[in-house]
Amino acid sequence: MSNNSVNIVCIGGGPAGLYFGILMKKKDPRHEIVVIERNRPYDTFGWGVVFSDQTLGNLVAADEPTAKTILQAFNHWDDIDVFFKGRRITSGGHGFCGIGRKRLLNILQARCEELGVKLVFETNVTDERAVAAHYRADLVIACDGVNSGVRARYGDVFQPEIDVRRCRFVWLGTKKRFDAFTFAFEKTEHGWFQAHIYQFDGDTSTFIVETPEEVWRRARLDEMSQEEGIRFCERLFASQLEGHPLLSNATHLRGSAIWIRFPRIVCARWVHRIDVDGREVPIVLMGDAAHTAHYSIGSGTKLALEDAIELARCFSTHGGEGMDRALSAYEERRSVEVLKIQSAARNSMEWFENVDRYTGLEAEQFAYSMLTRSQRIPHENLRLRDAGYVAGYEGFIAEHAFAQAGVPVPPAMLPGRRPIPPMLTPFRARGVVLKNRIVVSPMAQYSAVDGIPGDYHLVHLGARAMGGAGMVCAEMTCTSPDARITPACPGLWNDAQRDAWRRIVDFVHAETDAKIAVQLGHAGAKGSTCVPWSNEGADYPLPSGNWPLVAASAQQYLPGVSQTARAATRDDLARIKADFVAATRRAAEAGFDWLELHCAHGYLLSSFISPLTNRRGDEYGGDDGDGVAGRCRYPLEVFGAIREAWPNDKPISVRISAHDWVEGGITPDNAVTIGRLFKAAGADMIDCSSGQVVPDAKPVYGRMYQTPFADRIRNEAGIATIAVGAIFEADHANGIIAAGRADLCAIARPHLANPAWTLTEAAKLGYGDIEWPRQYRAAKVQLERNLQREKEAAAANAGLTPQEIAAKLLGS
Ligand SMILES: Cc1cc2nc3c(=O)[nH]c(=O)nc-3n(C[C@H](O)[C@H](O)[C@H](O)COP(=O)(O)OP(=O)(O)OC[C@H]3O[C@@H](n4cnc5c(N)ncnc54)[C@H](O)[C@@H]3O)c2cc1C
Ligand SMILES: Cc1cc2nc3c(=O)[nH]c(=O)nc-3n(C[C@H](O)[C@H](O)[C@H](O)COP(=O)(O)O)c2cc1C
Repeated sequence: MSNNSVNIVCIGGGPAGLYFGILMKKKDPRHEIVVIERNRPYDTFGWGVVFSDQTLGNLVAADEPTAKTILQAFNHWDDIDVFFKGRRITSGGHGFCGIGRKRLLNILQARCEELGVKLVFETNVTDERAVAAHYRADLVIACDGVNSGVRARYGDVFQPEIDVRRCRFVWLGTKKRFDAFTFAFEKTEHGWFQAHIYQFDGDTSTFIVETPEEVWRRARLDEMSQEEGIRFCERLFASQLEGHPLLSNATHLRGSAIWIRFPRIVCARWVHRIDVDGREVPIVLMGDAAHTAHYSIGSGTKLALEDAIELARCFSTHGGEGMDRALSAYEERRSVEVLKIQSAARNSMEWFENVDRYTGLEAEQFAYSMLTRSQRIPHENLRLRDAGYVAGYEGFIAEHAFAQAGVPVPPAMLPGRRPIPPMLTPFRARGVVLKNRIVVSPMAQYSAVDGIPGDYHLVHLGARAMGGAGMVCAEMTCTSPDARITPACPGLWNDAQRDAWRRIVDFVHAETDAKIAVQLGHAGAKGSTCVPWSNEGADYPLPSGNWPLVAASAQQYLPGVSQTARAATRDDLARIKADFVAATRRAAEAGFDWLELHCAHGYLLSSFISPLTNRRGDEYGGDDGDGVAGRCRYPLEVFGAIREAWPNDKPISVRISAHDWVEGGITPDNAVTIGRLFKAAGADMIDCSSGQVVPDAKPVYGRMYQTPFADRIRNEAGIATIAVGAIFEADHANGIIAAGRADLCAIARPHLANPAWTLTEAAKLGYGDIEWPRQYRAAKVQLERNLQREKEAAAANAGLTPQEIAAKLLGS
């Protein structure tokens, strides 16, 4: 097919259709391309469009003449300004460009005409078959925008998922000039409103106003005329507008109809084949017709143009193998790329939908949280953009942390020195001060004999306490022999176990400045199983010597495999609570600094919290409202009892599964309520894990995938949190602490690979002001030197090919 010309019809003359026409015509002038648009030429909606510098690079590579004209028309800026609670926070280096949507379309239309792409205006396509037949099309592109008629007509094939979001927004403009991408937040008696503002030509700026639907209704914007609504926005953002009016170009809309809700669109398929007079003609979705990405990351037009680039590229690469191959390659590659942007856009959209959650933060932290909202701009990347801003902000975080911890500011923070990375700042809970925010997450080792931790545990926990973390948390430690997961789990139900723990705690206290926590738990229905490396495997019942199990309700963890646990009676509950209290007393006698109550992962206390595992009809079941308070009653009673037995100056954290990842299970909304309940009972922190409650859970994994739960609970329930799960680089931990998404970061598997994870990560950051064990200081000096050399070599080799690097190394 690469040698054949094709007839292409694009339905819709937006950025996607026009740009695809340009690129295909450029590749082969013999292609016959027609773009059909229902509007008149040069007659369009919208204000400014934003591109990042990276998108501009893609445009230059695809068609230089268009890119050059676009670049001449662009308004470029680097700064982002955040206006919040009377403060203005500025950060630089963001590299964005703005252009009027009209201007962009005019440039694309002119280039189409220059190359011979046929433009047909004022033609509303309602029958793609007729159009395809008329132009003898070999290929139809459905680039008819967000409300695509084509997508709707073949909904059963494209399977669009349209999620209409909770905010109302209006797309306005103003002649006020802004020298930065500006985000302004204003509080009203009805709730918060925000404006996204960017200048896109010499004298015009886009001005989007957004607020949650309920706030919009409380403000009675739904009852106002278009003009009244605009006057409302002018009054609200008067300090930004400085007397300039807000302008609307949606003159065809009446009343409050200019306030729309963003539809998040994902399509399962992008390619379909229609019958045109007995010929099978492919029809392909492109741009907003195929997907949308929230305007807060300014990617709608970028995605539309990049779709066009990719399809044209697929024709060049795969055209020789036939059109089908090119189209399936396009769908395959683009749907993955688009999902990545959509996932960043979703994080960003959700941040703006929940601004209220973050308004308790100070302006500096609020701005940082907003800048990093998509989780696509890591902490060190922000430093590359604006080192001064990040250094200043790190100073702010450190100052607050030392004040919170009540410890003197170290010399490293004196003026002129690089501030401490956020993850290495201290934190206080009750009388316990952690030297930094890194916790070795509890990890079952299945290596105890009769519940007694031995030399293995001394070495395992001792090494990790020497590795730089602020605190190590010992694995789930059981409150009675029948509370164990396996026969090799440690316990605290007798004095021999207490004394064995004391040996480990004493070592940690004597040889390191780390704190040590114990996690108390009862296995419930997940007890009496084999160690993971046995022939049977984890969660499988013991071949012999099983003990009876209890849980909130009768249940079998692995259907058809596990032992069936019986529902705990009142006597069971009283005994188990007493066991928790006795274990707590022994933990205090062993000298642990911190206690964690294990209410996660389907173990006994977790089995009470989840509706999937608790079907009790008594007061410990879910008979109230959403049922959370009833199902939390027993775990809260246990918490209350251990809180009394545990020294007042020592903290207790509670680990929960903040999401069951199963329909009908615990949701992040419920987790906020659970956080509130434990906060009211006197818990110091919620350790936010998820899942493992039932075996058919479907977690959505990814970097820091559980951190959003810690963020919500911390900022909605107002209790300190621990984030855990796939946090494996200093950059992750620094971002989480800096943004106030959690107070501590628990890191599990990376600590199995590297006990000195914290010390190593600090060296990688180039941060030397961290204490190593005195016996290991020679290693610190060598590691820092080697990492420094690597950095210098990387900088010197930047831009060289592997062959050039090899030649350089051989020559040296
Ligand atoms: C009201 C509104 C304002 C926007 N303003 C901005 C903005 O200021 N800045 C920004 O970055 N993004 C803006 N966007 C988003 C951005 O425009 C899109 O993400 C981007 O334009 C997608 O390009 P597209 O070519 O896929 O679709 P569109 O730009 O929507 O183009 C689709 C085209 O198809 C035409 N069409 C639709 N149906 C038919 C039919 N049956 N027959 C013939 N033609 C048809 C439409 O008239 C339109 O010109 C706006 C979106 C909306 C809905
Ligand atoms: C070997 C192993 C044992 C674990 N044992 C426990 C445990 O005893 N208690 C607990 O709450 N979580 C336990 N976990 C879960 C971890 O604490 C942590 O939440 C999880 O591994 C995600 O963190 P990561 O991505 O840093 O590994 C264990 C994880 C591993 C890998």
